[in-house]
Amino acid sequence: MKLAITGKGGVGKTTITALLAQAYAQKKYKTFLVDADPSPSLGSALGIPKDTLKNLTPISEMSKLIQERTGVAPGTNYGAMFKLNPKVDDIPDKFSVTGPNNMRLLVVGTIKAAGTGCFCPENALVKRLLKHLILSEEEILIMDMEAGIEHLGRGTIQNMDLLLIVLEPGMRSVKVAEQIKRLGEELGIKRFGAVLNKVQDRSLDEKIINRKLSPLGIPILGALPFNKDLISADLYDLPPSEIEGSEDLMKQIEDIRTKIESIIH
Ligand SMILES: Nc1ncnc2c1ncn2[C@@H]1O[C@H](COP(=O)(O)OP(=O)(O)OP(=O)(O)O)[C@@H](O)[C@H]1O
Ligand SMILES: [Mg+2]
Repeated sequence: MKLAITGKGGVGKTTITALLAQAYAQKKYKTFLVDADPSPSLGSALGIPKDTLKNLTPISEMSKLIQERTGVAPGTNYGAMFKLNPKVDDIPDKFSVTGPNNMRLLVVGTIKAAGTGCFCPENALVKRLLKHLILSEEEILIMDMEAGIEHLGRGTIQNMDLLLIVLEPGMRSVKVAEQIKRLGEELGIKRFGAVLNKVQDRSLDEKIINRKLSPLGIPILGALPFNKDLISADLYDLPPSEIEGSEDLMKQIEDIRTKIESIIH
């Protein structure tokens, strides 16, 4: 299963990606994480040591690799013909790092959009990579996306089985969710779900947001309370799964995980 975590800036995408990864790993899934944010931060949220992260080069910055696989150097010649089916099968093993619970992390990095969409070799390589990552029943790919909707034009999420949209209780989040749903559908994505994060009054927040999301066909799969320990975790650069009282948080994440499973299967 391939899952992409999307939503407005700062709503908690990276936090939820890291927590879900932990929940899947606890269920003995082989968990493969993709950081598709131009300023990658998933590695430290997963608790991968800085020394390990230091050695991680984003795929989109590997000029030599991109040139070797697509036949075109990135950035130099947007009009050039490049191989649309570059070899990618060895990339996950070669360029990912291993974190706690045997999770693996691959960093995609920045793909600059040229005009509408991005018909460039780095995008071709990344898209192919995500499409051809073959996962067995016990494997899950979770991709932490860049904030907003710009990346949807690049089609990196085209091959995802489910888009999980993270929202804060607010209409600005809803607006972005609406756009994600529309653009995601245009890319052929069939399943969508929402997680409400930083909730202060669950029943009220959920009622108001659900009134907006329900007509769009986006089910709310769960809600996480506002939790100042998560802010401290970020402040001290610690994984959210390690905060005090994380048992409750992990229970709520496990509920969300179960709902994700029921949507997919
Ligand atoms: N439930 C929560 N309660 C309080 N703070 C939270 C909660 N979830 C996340 N945060 C905090 O909100 C901030 C943004 O979270 P995070 O980095 O996960 O968001 P993001 O959507 O990935 O942001 P970006 O769009 O920059 O990638 C962090 O400081 C994080 O600790
Ligand atoms: Mg993030």
